[in-house]
Amino acid sequence: MNKWLNRDLISIADYSSEEASFVIDAALTLKDDPGQAAKLAEGKTLAMIFEKQSLRTRMTFEIAMTQMGGHGIYLQPTDIGLGTREPVMDVARCLSRWCAAIMARTFKHETVIELAEYADVQVINALSDWEHPCQALADFLTLREHLGEVRGKTLAYVGDGNNVVHSLMLLAAKLGMNCRIGCPTGYEPDAKLTAAAQLCAQETGAIIEVLHDPAAAVMDADAVYTDVWTSMGQENEREERLRIFPPFQINAELLSHANPGALIMHCLPAHRGEEISAAAMDSPNSVVFDEAENRLHAQKAVLALGMGWLPD
Ligand code: CP
Ligand code: NVA
Repeated sequence: MNKWLNRDLISIADYSSEEASFVIDAALTLKDDPGQAAKLAEGKTLAMIFEKQSLRTRMTFEIAMTQMGGHGIYLQPTDIGLGTREPVMDVARCLSRWCAAIMARTFKHETVIELAEYADVQVINALSDWEHPCQALADFLTLREHLGEVRGKTLAYVGDGNNVVHSLMLLAAKLGMNCRIGCPTGYEPDAKLTAAAQLCAQETGAIIEVLHDPAAAVMDADAVYTDVWTSMGQENEREERLRIFPPFQINAELLSHANPGALIMHCLPAHRGEEISAAAMDSPNSVVFDEAENRLHAQKAVLALGMGWLPD
């Protein structure tokens, strides 16, 4: 029995360390040799549910399906009225009759969980308020390409303790990369999720820390990552966050504490002059567009494995 067939991806916690490495290796394989999955999705459809805006996620999932010979159907919030026009469980059961897989970008993480509970096909979390697992896979693919082995190296994340850092810290722990988070008091990643990452890190030798001093967080880091200060759905907190977060901006001064040549990372969209200076964003050490490209390869691997492909 192939355990990857129709395998959901709701949280990075769904993967063991070996499985997380395997998916990233599979993505590297498909990036080098896309022909391996060229016809895999022929006649197959991916349902693409969006409750929020997107550029990268929509493009890369749809392109992944196209490149594998299938296609994606984009469903914007007003199309289905998930949970309002129709219960989530009925949407999941209908889509399962027509589609090979479902990806969903939702406000509530519980919505993705409910879709997965009632769908018979693969369900992929394409960002919820809790996690962004596809982003983390693409980011570690990028780190592997630029740093080689990530085990023992240090990723610093500076900013809001949000969905993106939840997935990043879980994956860092699973792959043995140290992850130091620098965030304002009151904006830490979830305490239980942090404890789970730290427990996992005990097995891989990684150190996962949450600090409140941005300079201490980036000290000697091999990569420095940030994300928007105000995530989608938090717009009414924007003014308050703009007052609190400026010491956590990635800029030349903060980067002077990291390793020389440290990679600069951002999941995008970025706000130059807020969480990242224009100079840092556009510096030669910035790999933000590699991360964006790698969304395609990482998600293609997740979809291809779900459709029964295994690397040669
Ligand atoms: N990083 C990311 O998920 O981008 P989009 O919101 O544009 O999909
Ligand atoms: N944390 C951001 C990520 C966007 C890709 C958000 O949820 O809006």
